[in-house]
Amino acid sequence: MFSSDINPWNVSNTYDYSKLITKFGISPFKPLLSKIDKPNIYMKRDIIFGHRNFDPIIDCINNKSFFVVLDGFMPTGMAHFGHKLVMDQIVWYQKNGGNVVISIADLEANVVRGIPLKKCFEIGINEYILNLIAFGLNPKKTFFYFQSKNENLLKLSFDLGINVNFNELSSIYGFSESTHLSNMFCTLNQSSDILMPQLKEYYGPCNVVIPVGIDQDPHIRLTRDIINKKNLFYIEKRIDSKNNSFLSIRCKKVSEELMLSLEKELLSMNLKIKKSKMHIDILNCLNIDLLKSIVKNLLLNNGYNFFNEPSSTYHKFMTGLNGGKMSSSILDSHVSLSELPLNLKKKIIKAKTGGRETLNEQRIFGGNPEKCPMFEFYLYHLCNKENDINEIYDNCINGKLFCGNCKKDIVEKLLVFLKNHNEKKEMILEKNDLTKFLNNF
Ligand code: TRP
Repeated sequence: MFSSDINPWNVSNTYDYSKLITKFGISPFKPLLSKIDKPNIYMKRDIIFGHRNFDPIIDCINNKSFFVVLDGFMPTGMAHFGHKLVMDQIVWYQKNGGNVVISIADLEANVVRGIPLKKCFEIGINEYILNLIAFGLNPKKTFFYFQSKNENLLKLSFDLGINVNFNELSSIYGFSESTHLSNMFCTLNQSSDILMPQLKEYYGPCNVVIPVGIDQDPHIRLTRDIINKKNLFYIEKRIDSKNNSFLSIRCKKVSEELMLSLEKELLSMNLKIKKSKMHIDILNCLNIDLLKSIVKNLLLNNGYNFFNEPSSTYHKFMTGLNGGKMSSSILDSHVSLSELPLNLKKKIIKAKTGGRETLNEQRIFGGNPEKCPMFEFYLYHLCNKENDINEIYDNCINGKLFCGNCKKDIVEKLLVFLKNHNEKKEMILEKNDLTKFLNNF
């Protein structure tokens, strides 16, 4: 049914990340590293490999100005170590000044995976919200909501739908004539999750970052396309016949009345303008931010929306234990965040590695940590120090490490981690009824 390169509902485990960067115009993350005061481990290790429009978020973090971190979780089953990767990032943003909004995408889970909403509710609370809090998210400073219970989200989706047609959806997602309407509506819901914080009922136009896996980029592209259509004015830098730059406010299908109000507003700010039917050139001001705020206020005061372009980061996926994709619905592909010790041991013993067939070959040729789901556990979760991870890597490729030993060590480390983590979860549950954190965002 789906045929596009990146598909959110049919995730591959063999992405060529550098190819995706060029093909979809995602920017590499590495060049930004030096601008971030204390980058997290996923940034440092190139696990977060790409971004769109992340610079404004760096400014917000460095200048301690307002920004929002928005993420969504589809409540389909147990949260696992792939989710920890996202949850850690969200906590990192909150500690760096971000205002966190979490959508539990129960409508998506219901429509795409057929899970009843009542079950989605239990999973949303006991797997996603609970684990997020156990990883250090401050629930009192977080907005959690369920898609199905949020009236504003549904209204916004309906409104965004005006700007999306079937051709666009099929080129972004590979939808065909047989794709059902509710699946299409899910795409609008996700755009609404992303844009809702910027409605004037919430924070108003602001910087929002969405940390996601690369499979979610189609949703980001759709959202950016929607914004381009929804924002009635945009500002362009142009060059006149004498090679001088000037700014021009271009507009789309706006009423004459709105154009007149804009003109009046600009004149009242002592700006020199030249007006045409569909644009107004500004002759004595090169301050884009000033013009943007004039346009923004005009639109908001007249009952229109204005959205800043969202920022997004993209991380690589953890490979599943069996070498395929890591998924909540394939039990043997993941270690869940509440895995019982016996199961954990069984799963790790069975897991694929980048090792050779025999110990002797391993000694002679070395293993391949680049293609080893076990090494990923060290890299993503179990080994914080750069020296230590480099040592594991080198010893593996030099034939000094054997998969059995790594697995034993990983089991031990995971057991300790899970014991602590589950104790935290129990303590949180003893002290709180988690539904009290569901505020009506
Ligand atoms: N579609 C996402 C998933 O499959 C969940 C999601 C819903 C989401 N709304 C979102 C992710 C908004 C990021 C932003 O897991």
